[in-house]
Amino acid sequence: MIRKGIILSGGMGTRMSPLTKAVNKQLLPIYDKPLIFYPLSILMLAKIKDILIIVNKGQLNQYKKILPNGNRLGIKLTYKEQDSPKGLPDAFILGDNFIGKENVALILGDNFFYGQFLSQKLMECTKLKKGAKVLLHRVANPEKYGVAKVKKNKITLIKEKPKKFFSDLAITGLYFFDNKVIKFSKELKPSKRNELEITDLLNKYKKINSLSADYIGRGGAWLDTGSIEDFYKTSNFVSAIENRQGFKIACLEEISLLNKWISKKEINEAIKFYGKCEYSSYLKKLI
Ligand code: DAU
Repeated sequence: MIRKGIILSGGMGTRMSPLTKAVNKQLLPIYDKPLIFYPLSILMLAKIKDILIIVNKGQLNQYKKILPNGNRLGIKLTYKEQDSPKGLPDAFILGDNFIGKENVALILGDNFFYGQFLSQKLMECTKLKKGAKVLLHRVANPEKYGVAKVKKNKITLIKEKPKKFFSDLAITGLYFFDNKVIKFSKELKPSKRNELEITDLLNKYKKINSLSADYIGRGGAWLDTGSIEDFYKTSNFVSAIENRQGFKIACLEEISLLNKWISKKEINEAIKFYGKCEYSSYLKKLI
């Protein structure tokens, strides 16, 4: 069972400047809550309670204001600062001590997942004992992502943002790794754009026949929050579903309550913490 998770929540958010000049991108709103709530909710739905959040140097206080140590959610949150965006595998170099001898899940702070059976799929993925697993999703614009070619259920090619089309299966920002990920990440060399590439790391697993893939089917949504336009589209998606159903997506306290990690007491504390707002009214309804 994978019990540890990392959220990579730094980055300069350059494409969204000036919004990201003073505030980190992952703290900006997707409809009614900060973006970081969504990837965090995914790890919590996977029943992962021990979570490291990697943030930009100098932005720790911003995060701690909204997500202190996790007590209120019945989880453990620790933080680590990244000096500069050195690439996604840097998460495993910075997270070396946190991971220890265990396996680990990584989710990118700007990734949004939603769909029926998602929790079930996540729980299956956390059963990983050896190797690495990625979640693939068909997209109309694969050149924006890491892309995988699959033949007979096996990944045969992986490339980061390929200029020439070879597959429409994007590699989403949620990955499951065995403990070798620390060693493999430390062996990587920066690419031409001077970053450690997640695709190079995945290729190391592919080389030893230890890379597997699962899919977020057509019924599931994996949305982008890369640009301002994407932010609004994702916000609209959340707003449409929440207002239609009356359920919130990524209400962290609700997930904790359903997982039996917290009780009424913590929900009341959360209501006090958030103050008089729509989110608190929703929490009140839960109890
Ligand atoms: O969203 C999925 C895609 O994410 C994958 O398909 C690609 O293979 C993967 O490389 C990545 O591509 P992006 O171009 O979207 O990565 P980006 O540099 O935008 O970083 C993603 C998130 O990780 C973003 O929230 C910032 C954070 N980040 C990124 C880097 C490179 C960090 O916190 N530290 C970093 O060093």
